[in-house]
Amino acid sequence: MMHKILILVTLIMAVVTSPAVADFNTDVSISWGGGRAKIEPGGQVLTLTLDQFSGSGFESKNSYLYARFDMQLKLVPGNSAGTVTTFFLTSQGPGHDEIDFEFLGNSSGQPYTVHTNIYVQGVGNREQQFRLWFNPTESFHTYTILWNPQRIMYMVDNIPIRVFNNNANQGIPFPTKQPMKMLASLWNADDWATQGGRVKTDWTMAPFTATYRNYNAQGCVVNGTWNSCGGNMNSMPWQTQGLDSNGRNRIRWVQEKYMIYNYCTDYKRFPQGLPKECKLPRF
Ligand SMILES: *[C@@H]1O[C@H](CO)[C@@H](O)[C@H](O)[C@H]1NC(C)=O
Repeated sequence: MMHKILILVTLIMAVVTSPAVADFNTDVSISWGGGRAKIEPGGQVLTLTLDQFSGSGFESKNSYLYARFDMQLKLVPGNSAGTVTTFFLTSQGPGHDEIDFEFLGNSSGQPYTVHTNIYVQGVGNREQQFRLWFNPTESFHTYTILWNPQRIMYMVDNIPIRVFNNNANQGIPFPTKQPMKMLASLWNADDWATQGGRVKTDWTMAPFTATYRNYNAQGCVVNGTWNSCGGNMNSMPWQTQGLDSNGRNRIRWVQEKYMIYNYCTDYKRFPQGLPKECKLPRF
């Protein structure tokens, strides 16, 4: 009996203990770009660079089925037109799920576009884009992807900017089955990113650098068939986190002032009718 209780206590501790900020050395692997991705001594800071020959990227070693990911980012400064800095989740294999956070660079002094999209079983077409209310190249800001059984929520400095609710019971796709990894990259997309490809990357400014700091993942790690959250899906705040009244006020403010594209109002794109989720209450 004592033995069983001990095991139970250990399991509960493992789930409840909030992990400290991750160490890039132990928690991610550099997936491409060779020496263009560098972990600074101490493991809290990682820089990605992009030159004429290649970009670079890294990914979490763990896969998660629901988690909250926080990353501090300082984006490519100056003339960053054509560069795309990313921080996203994706599952492996066909019919993949994906939750995107992408930062499209711009000419000097022009604003970045924050691009978000959600794929379920290989199908996306759920883009929303935003401007930021600060200069994202001057200092670090925290970008968060929260994915729990009730919703996906994007936050910037803890201010919610987008919520996608789980309305699977109304036939609206939501990622619930495939574990995802956190991926990050800096690459060139001047064929589409900047004003539809009209502004080209200025390679005399290369290499371009984006800096990632203080990565933190709190979530249910999936290891083969073992899921660390098991039946214990309600023991940490992120697992049920949503919008309180303050959050609702803030997301309204962001969406009124800073949203620049919303697939849910793009009637031209969906002549047969908007996707179902667009007809539900927004928050
Ligand atoms: C770059 O800035 C221009 C002018 O403000 C804006 O119209 C455009 O959408 C921006 N491009 C990106 C990729 O953010």
